[in-house]
Order: sequence, then structure tokens, then C-alpha cells
Amino acid sequence: MIEAADIARIGRHLAGRGESGEPAIWDVRIDAEGDLADDAALLAHARHQTLMRAYQSRYALLPTNGAAGNAVEQLRRRYEPRTLALVEATRTCLEDLLITPAIEHARAAALGVDWAAYADTLLKAVRVAPENPFVAFLRTSPQREDHYRNFLLQASADLLAEASASALGVIGEFGPAQSALFRILIDEFGYGVHDRKHSVLYRAVMRGFGLPDEYNACWPLFDTAALRLHNTIHCLFQNPRYLFLQIGFLLHAETAYQRSTRDHFRYLAKFHPEVDARYFGEHAHIDLHHTRMVIEEVAAPLVATHGPEVGVEIVAGAELTRQAFAQAGDQMLAVSRAFDTAVEQGRAQSQRPDLSGQGLPATPSSAARLDPAAMIQVGGLGLVEAGVFAAFPRDAFGRLPAEARS
Ligand SMILES: [Fe+2]
Ligand SMILES: [Fe+2]
Repeated sequence: MIEAADIARIGRHLAGRGESGEPAIWDVRIDAEGDLADDAALLAHARHQTLMRAYQSRYALLPTNGAAGNAVEQLRRRYEPRTLALVEATRTCLEDLLITPAIEHARAAALGVDWAAYADTLLKAVRVAPENPFVAFLRTSPQREDHYRNFLLQASADLLAEASASALGVIGEFGPAQSALFRILIDEFGYGVHDRKHSVLYRAVMRGFGLPDEYNACWPLFDTAALRLHNTIHCLFQNPRYLFLQIGFLLHAETAYQRSTRDHFRYLAKFHPEVDARYFGEHAHIDLHHTRMVIEEVAAPLVATHGPEVGVEIVAGAELTRQAFAQAGDQMLAVSRAFDTAVEQGRAQSQRPDLSGQGLPATPSSAARLDPAAMIQVGGLGLVEAGVFAAFPRDAFGRLPAEARS
């Protein structure tokens, strides 16, 4: 078990790495200064941050506009093997604690389910589903711009390096299905045209809402639900033993995305026509093909060659993904509604996040011990009085202003 003291020890080791002007993309800090032993929500959050750092360390990352000083030395520092090993050593235990229960739950739900019938039902359900609940909510909310900014910020944990996780599931040797997956991967990378790479298209939407668009720049405001979703996806793809769960992830994600991105594209065209929304337009189109490819060229041949247990595991991966996205979506809606209520009461206000400094972290449970009038930046939404934030959904996360740290 990775206890509060272990997280605190790792936190001390990583502390200071993101200071003194180091580019945000190389920041590896976690929030381990608070009273982790007495705050279960903060401990859960810091554990997820540690797991995120373990996964991020598998990717080559360079700051978009270069770094001041010697880039070779800084890269060696970012990927210093002993520091990486310290975090990596916690990975399996953290996965067992944070992700495995959901995998076992999904496997139980998948028992006896025929994968082809499951995929068929999924496709039909997506076609007749009502508008995405978050988008439908936005249409009614006066704070829709704040909510959308927060949505983009939380989803950026994964999407600013979109498909880097699934790229890890494509290397190796596993027959024709691998080559079909590789063709999907090429699309995710814009077919080699940088301006069409999906992560680059996502950066444009972030800029449209006044957010920093560098990978990892927004990590201080990721809430626990966003980290859980990120880590669930990365746990699958960073473990080859979960190859068939990965296929299930793709089956569900590509199917659901073809519909949700269409809703987002229409929403942005109506309410934020000035924003570059190609990210969503592109997915609404190409994920129709990706869904078909996953079903016909990946799942079907793998089950035909390797047996029916593979089909059950694919369904488990899809169910895991459905549950993970549903949880993250429910959290997003609950936090958005709580913010709207606080604004109505005059106890919260819109505020673009200031990520130049890093104030102390706050969970709803820790906020209950603060001055009730203290203002907390909650995700990308705005400032909320601590006394109100204390009643926010459990997985919400915010920060006090940077000056309150000293
Ligand atoms: Fe994509
Ligand atoms: Fe796709």
C-alpha cells in the first residue's frame, strides 16, 4: 500500500522541479505538502497525481518555444532515471489501489456478454441518444463559458497528448489487427501533417477559451475525477497484459466520440462561433470510420483467432470505459451546477485560472477547515468561497491564491 508518508516522501523529492522558470511541460510536482494522513480526499488526489507522473514519464516532451538555458541538460534532468524509478516503483501498487477495482467490476459486468451483440447495441444506442447531457446543460447556464473552459481544462490531461496513450498499444507484434490499429493511430496524428494532429487541434480550442495550451500546463487544477479518467486510460495502454481491454476502450471511445463531438461542434458553432472547433468537427467525421475499423478489422479477427474469452475482455474494456466517462461526466455536471448555485448566491465569480503561481490545494473537506470567506480557484471555473466549496462534490479540487502559500 502506498501510504501518506510514501506520497509525502516522493512529493519532497519532486518539489522544486517546476520552480525557477522550468517550462510547464517538464513540471513533475505533486501536491504532497498538506496533511495527507488526515485528508482522505487530498491523499486520493495526490496518489492519482503520482500515478499520472509515472505515466507522463514515458513520453518525450519538449516545450513548444524552447527553454531558457541548455535544453540537453534540462531534458536529462526531467528524465533523471533515479527520480523516475522512485515514482515508477509505486505504479503497480497505485494501479491496484486506484484502477484495478474498476477493472474487476467491468469484468464482472461483461461475463457472458457476446461482444458482437454488445457492439451492435452500442452503435444503435449512440444513434438514438439524446444530446450530450453536459452540452444540453450548457445551453441553459448563464455561466456556460466558464463551464466550457473548465471542461476543456479537465479533459486536457489526456487530450493535449491525444493518442500517445494508445500509441503504446500499437507497438509489438500481433497480426493484422495491429496494422488496423496503426492506421487509426496515423489519423490521430493527423496523418503526419502537424497542423491536423488531434492534440494540435485541441490546443486551438484551448486558446479560444483563453487557456494555456501547453501539455501539462493546467495540471495544478485537474480535479480528482479528471485524474482518475486519465489514469484509467493510461493504465490500460501502459500494460500489454490489458491488450484486449484496450480494444474495448477504443470500441467504446470511438463510438461515443462520434456522437459527443458532433454535439460539441454544434454547440460551439452556436455559442462560440469565433472559436476554432475543427477538433470536434474532425472527430464527428473520422470516428465513424474508426468505430467500423475497431469492430471489423480489430475486434472480430482477434476474437476469431484467439477465442471467445477475448470477446468478453473487449466488452469489459468497453464497460470500464463507459463507467469511467460516465463518472467524469457526472462529476463535471455536478460541479458545474454547484458553481451556478454559488454564483446565484453571490458567493462565486467567473475567473480565468491564473497558473503563473501555485497556491495551496483545497478539497471540499479541507475547505471546511478554512476561513469560510477565503476564495478558492476551482478548476477552470472561477473563484468560490471556501464555505460554499466545502459542500461541492467530493472529487472537486481547487487552489487558494498563490500569495496565501507563505
Ligand atoms: Fe482523435
Ligand atoms: Fe478516433
